Amino acid sequence: MEKLIINGGKPLAGTVTISGAKNSAVALIPAALLADGPVVIENLPKIQDVDIYFKLLREMGADVLFEDDWMEIDGRAMQSVLMPNGRVKKLRASYYLWGALLAKFGEARVGLPGGCDLGPRPVDLHIKGFEALGARVENQNGVMTIRANKLKGARIYLDLVSVGATINIMLAASKAEGVTIIENAAREPEIVDVATLLNNMGANIKGAGTDIIRIQGVERLRGCRHTIIPDRIEAGTYMIAAAATGGSVTLENVIPKHLESVTAKLREIGAEVIEMDDCILVNGKGTYRAADVKTSPYPGFPTDLQQPITALLTLAKGSSIVTDNIYSARFRHIDELRRMGANIKVEGRSAVIEGGHKLLGAKVVASDLRAGAALVIAGLATQGTTELEGLEHIDRGYENLVGKLQNLGADVQRVSSHRQERHHM
Ligand code: UD1
Repeated sequence: MEKLIINGGKPLAGTVTISGAKNSAVALIPAALLADGPVVIENLPKIQDVDIYFKLLREMGADVLFEDDWMEIDGRAMQSVLMPNGRVKKLRASYYLWGALLAKFGEARVGLPGGCDLGPRPVDLHIKGFEALGARVENQNGVMTIRANKLKGARIYLDLVSVGATINIMLAASKAEGVTIIENAAREPEIVDVATLLNNMGANIKGAGTDIIRIQGVERLRGCRHTIIPDRIEAGTYMIAAAATGGSVTLENVIPKHLESVTAKLREIGAEVIEMDDCILVNGKGTYRAADVKTSPYPGFPTDLQQPITALLTLAKGSSIVTDNIYSARFRHIDELRRMGANIKVEGRSAVIEGGHKLLGAKVVASDLRAGAALVIAGLATQGTTELEGLEHIDRGYENLVGKLQNLGADVQRVSSHRQERHHM
């Protein structure tokens, strides 16, 4: 087992280059299977979720070449519609195989997805979408079988704004007969990225990035090249870390517009944020004002940064209320922040923070990906030493977190518990 040892108290300083977006990558890879030729995806983040997808595609018989930060995917040789439970359970976004296999073979048999435990994560909207397109869906002992003789375009209203359901319906509808309209669609930049890839493959998708998406089905999709957009959640994490340490960090390879809700919140508490074409500079301060944060679908404040900003707000003077309107139980980082001396209560779907106290180093455990990011930020902001376990969660979604932080001057090391024991001897 490995852990991070963080000796906090050093302001982060310098430049960090942001990787390709995790939540795009995990949708673009299955989307590529729909082409009748090779699709090259560039700017892939080096994270576990991408590795797992690579292995999944190999297991399913696709020809996949994976080098450095690009993958060439050729789904022509693929036969299998059946995905066993093993790897599928390791990542939430395996659910995109439902839409992709359904579009490709008219059938998908895939185990229910895994991923971070954020409380209930239903998939009813995905199923509703597939059924509207003419598929029959059965769930037998956790294996979903989704079948359609012919997928037919339909008008689909999503009761809730869902990133996953919007993308899955786009995938399935891209080769369906006729027109599909998704109403109340999610507007996240990752959805636009997937639509861009599919359109470059020859699909006919209009309106991605708005709440009405129109998909005119086409018979064939072809190979192409695509570069993934920057990861706005990784970027937001470094912005918050810069602020929490009172540092000065330039983020390169970002789309500032994708980060407006984070920029606005950091400015509200008193940090300086300067936006340039494809860079953002964050200048942290010694003290901050409290502020309330409510998560909502894009362009609102992202739930994926709720946990990181909670860590920052423990440093802001006064009461802050952080409400997660997307995942009501995404609060497993709170107990750990309390171990570090934070004064936080959870009330329903809100965390009430009495901030402005110094945090202390402690032994803490990351329960999920963004909880891990929150605890790293808290650890960087303390004067003491923090030991963080649960790194497998962080590895799922942050490329080279330790290296990037070290480049910014942080005193962070990844050690095996074994080495640690010797260290103490
Ligand atoms: C995606 C992101 C995740 C992010 C989340 C919200 C990926 C791989 N993951 O997850 O990082 O935290 O968006 O921005 O892109 N819901 C239902 N029924 C459904 C589907 C969703 O009730 O069938 C609910 C969810 O429980 C949640 C809300 O809708 O409360 C939004 O979820 P959704 O946008 O679907 O999240 P994911 O796509 O799973």
